[in-house]
Amino acid sequence: MASFKGGVGKTTTAVHLASYFSNQGDTLLIDGDPNRSATGWSKRGQLPFTVIDERQAAKYVPKFK
Ligand SMILES: Nc1ncnc2c1ncn2[C@@H]1O[C@H](COP(=O)(O)OP(=O)(O)O)[C@@H](O)[C@H]1O
Ligand SMILES: [Mg+2]
Repeated sequence: MASFKGGVGKTTTAVHLASYFSNQGDTLLIDGDPNRSATGWSKRGQLPFTVIDERQAAKYVPKFK
């Protein structure tokens, strides 16, 4: 999800899509927004997928093939 505009539903859409995909297998959401909203939401510990930031992507992506 990408847009320069804030408040248009990027984080909400990404989290819903990741929830959907998590029904089909292990799912990795890469939070590339400097505001790290998805990362913050995931810290509550209730989401059925893993959230990382883009700096960690090279390490995690091979585990989610
Ligand atoms: N499909 C939608 N329908 C109604 N409200 C939405 C929808 N998607 C997001 N929102 C609401 O819009 C606001 C901004 O959403 P957010 O995902 O944080 O946007 P962004 O990541 O683009 O800044 C939040 O209050 C969110 O609950
Ligand atoms: Mg956001």
